[in-house]
Amino acid sequence: MRKFTNAPLPSLGLIFKGLIKKNSGTAIQFNEISKANDHLNFNFSRSAWSLEFIAKLRMGIMQTNTIKMMVPDYFCNSTLAALREIKVDLVFYPINQNGEGNIDEIDKILKKNKIDLFLAVHFFGNYYNFSAISKIIKTSNAWFIEDCAHMLTNPDPRIHFAHFQIFSPHKLLPLPDGAILIANKAIFEKGSNMEIAKTIYSEYSEYDFFEPFKWLLKRLLQKLGVGVRIGINNFFHDDEINSTKRFPKPAMTPFSMSLLSHLMDTLEEEESTRKENSDSWVKIMSELFPSARVIYPEGNFHSYYLLGFEFEEEKDLAKAIFLLNKKKYPICTWPDLPPEVLDNRDYFRKAIDFRYKTIFFHVHSSIRKKDIESSL
Ligand SMILES: Cc1ncc(COP(=O)(O)O)c(C=O)c1O
Repeated sequence: MRKFTNAPLPSLGLIFKGLIKKNSGTAIQFNEISKANDHLNFNFSRSAWSLEFIAKLRMGIMQTNTIKMMVPDYFCNSTLAALREIKVDLVFYPINQNGEGNIDEIDKILKKNKIDLFLAVHFFGNYYNFSAISKIIKTSNAWFIEDCAHMLTNPDPRIHFAHFQIFSPHKLLPLPDGAILIANKAIFEKGSNMEIAKTIYSEYSEYDFFEPFKWLLKRLLQKLGVGVRIGINNFFHDDEINSTKRFPKPAMTPFSMSLLSHLMDTLEEEESTRKENSDSWVKIMSELFPSARVIYPEGNFHSYYLLGFEFEEEKDLAKAIFLLNKKKYPICTWPDLPPEVLDNRDYFRKAIDFRYKTIFFHVHSSIRKKDIESSL
């Protein structure tokens, strides 16, 4: 039986509950934030659709087909496919060594461009206080999107400085799909904005009927150790995905909603298991590769999505890929960088360094600490 998997596996109890109890509501009460009354929740299958919905909403409200969006250079190209299809003009900004946006460069871009949307990411669950940057963005009349796709919950759950927060629980929990968009209600209070939002949201109502069953079969087989693919095949290669053809349909499936509603009480436990697993990988790596540095060592980690180790020397990196693959550890690379970033290596040096010098470990709660500890 395989000890490690890339994805979290649902327990039989959870599958049973998910199948028998359907969640009827579309507004899952996700996160503490739902207790406040200053927001609206929207559900999607993936956050890539949440971002497309925000872009369409902006286009609808501003009555234009041309909008500009600022995105950090360290970001998945595949996630941007939906935005590219509706011709959002993407402007990439560089991040610093600690993962935060480079304010000087952001300022320069803002001086030269009229920006509609700005995306800031809490990378791997490292919580950044975006209050300063969000103020700058708001003065330029753009919408500020707080990307919490790598976090289960937000430690400062008020939607006070973002126009939108996006969550991707399907990335951290055993779910076939599922993304939540939290929108600041203030956006909908003006004129016909609410009507525009409703019309656009109605385009996102289709969901995949068979995909959850395929997912379930795959996960059940993986529980038996069948079909578990693990390790990094080609460290330097990423598939180029520039179309939404391979995306799931945009709405969250009822099965995911049901599973998520049952998982809501387990989020804290999931967070703490992820932290414990991260600490255990750190111990293992300090034995195997003491020169590897944990990514964002000074970070303020609230959640743990993936745990990254950065290698300064190419030969150490190559040795590590070989050995960690041999040990069948659940490792991966992140992300598939956008071509605009890869084509401008000097300007986006930090993101390129992070991509090509870092190995990530999965830390989800189907991985057992004792299996990590006994694996040396
Ligand atoms: C930071 C970040 N935001 C958003 C997304 C999109 O998430 P989803 O898979 O739900 O489309 C990703 C995907 O990896 C991501 O890493």
